[in-house]
Amino acid sequence: MATINELTPPYHVGYFVGSLSEHSINRLLSKALLRLAPHDLEFTEIPIGELPLYNRDLDGRFPQVALDFKASVDVQDALLFVTPEYNRSIPGALKNAIDWASRPYGENVIARKATAIIGASPGAIGTAVAQQQLRSVLSFLQAPQMNTPEAYIQITPGLITEDGEVTDPGTEMFLRSFMDAFFEYIERVLTVVPRAH
Ligand code: FNR
Repeated sequence: MATINELTPPYHVGYFVGSLSEHSINRLLSKALLRLAPHDLEFTEIPIGELPLYNRDLDGRFPQVALDFKASVDVQDALLFVTPEYNRSIPGALKNAIDWASRPYGENVIARKATAIIGASPGAIGTAVAQQQLRSVLSFLQAPQMNTPEAYIQITPGLITEDGEVTDPGTEMFLRSFMDAFFEYIERVLTVVPRAH
């Protein structure tokens, strides 16, 4: 049963960067989002790169790395996906991580968490196709999703610095408003879906 106390910020947001690249523009985007987000959101990156490929034969005897990964998802109030588009779809590493989080059957730790999706690409489509596919996956996993604003970010050289500073004021304002909207969305979801912990 939710109490008023349970609805008090700060809210804990776990974020996934869908790219394993050291030079990831999506990692730069995640840095920018953390800088611009309301102070009442506390962020923890949930790494996905060390997970082995999901195999259902391991259900019930997950390797420690997968147990730790699931636990780090489970403790969050909300999840933010910052992802590239690979071949008009979700990068395999991110889908693999989601598959681990969703299993064994009945132990899906993504369910009921407020989620938001954003992604960056050098191309004009700005990860829109991958994001639609991710929405489908999150729907199946019973995760409430922020519908709008949508955020398809086309990265041009220098738009976001190594430190996550956004050099274009219009883009900065948009990313700030995206994170403000996510904060409000998390609050709404927590109002109707009590935290399990
Ligand atoms: C891409 N890229 C790409 N871009 C896009 O907009 N739509 C796509 O479908 C694809 N497909 C694709 C497949 C693969 C295997 C790679 C490696 C790349 C280009 C991609 O957007 C670009 O490499 C980004 O820099 C990837 O994001 P990170 O890794 O920099 O965060």
